[in-house]
Amino acid sequence: MAQQCTVPAVRARKVAHGADPLVMLTAYDAPGARMVDQAGADVILVGDSVAMVVLGYEDTLQVTVDDIAHHTAAVARTRPSALVVADMPWMSYHVSVEETVRNAADLVRAGAQAVKLEGGRRRLPMVEALVAAEIPVMGHVGLTPQSVNAMGGFKVQGKDAQAALELVDAAKALAHAGCFAIVLEGVPAAVAAMVTEAVDVPTIGIGAGPDCDGQVLVLHDVLGIEHRVLPKFVRRYADLHADGVDALSAFAADVRSGAFPSTDECYAMDDRQQEALGLYGAA
Ligand code: KIV
Repeated sequence: MAQQCTVPAVRARKVAHGADPLVMLTAYDAPGARMVDQAGADVILVGDSVAMVVLGYEDTLQVTVDDIAHHTAAVARTRPSALVVADMPWMSYHVSVEETVRNAADLVRAGAQAVKLEGGRRRLPMVEALVAAEIPVMGHVGLTPQSVNAMGGFKVQGKDAQAALELVDAAKALAHAGCFAIVLEGVPAAVAAMVTEAVDVPTIGIGAGPDCDGQVLVLHDVLGIEHRVLPKFVRRYADLHADGVDALSAFAADVRSGAFPSTDECYAMDDRQQEALGLYGAA
């Protein structure tokens, strides 16, 4: 069994200091978590992307703390070696520091070892309060999907020099406030490289180029379980949607032709008992 991945172990994974890049994948249920863990990922993110890839919503704004707790518990029950990080949903850390800590505590009680939240300097009081409550926090800056309405869509961030410097500043402030790692989403590769160099905690990129300290992708995108329009940064390593449709079509055909179930797929009844029911020799 692989060694348990911990928050301090993740925090120490700076590629510039000789570490291997971090591997993070999302998972939302027990079978997904087992696959991700057996593949050797360092971190399992119970992302609010569950809203879009599992629950069929158009954005991530619909999921609640209870939803994420439900999925986190399913992942945690598999006792993965990977670190389990739960996403804090939209509005679970925006109203007050007290609510933020209480909501994060619910996710920890569901099985999360750390939480992730989106945003820069505005989130510093929340990050500090969580760290003070012994809840490790992963930051998330750049294209923050919970800001979809404020950003006017899922748009690449940090494209001009001023915005790039603001991203560097936000990441440094989050690291200083105690975040043990920072997700960089949807930013030019050159900006992600600048941020990665500027902070002493690992950056984990998604659509942020090769110079981050790790990479994260959404499980359903990597496996091709979903056939939604993919962002350009996704690399699909399987087409489980097509494989699934093929397998289910074969099942449907076997049911319709009578080829399923076969005798081997049925439970037999003792001859004497069949006789008692007047069934002996019937089948
Ligand atoms: O919810 C999620 O899957 C995420 C990743 C894309 C980083 O936040």
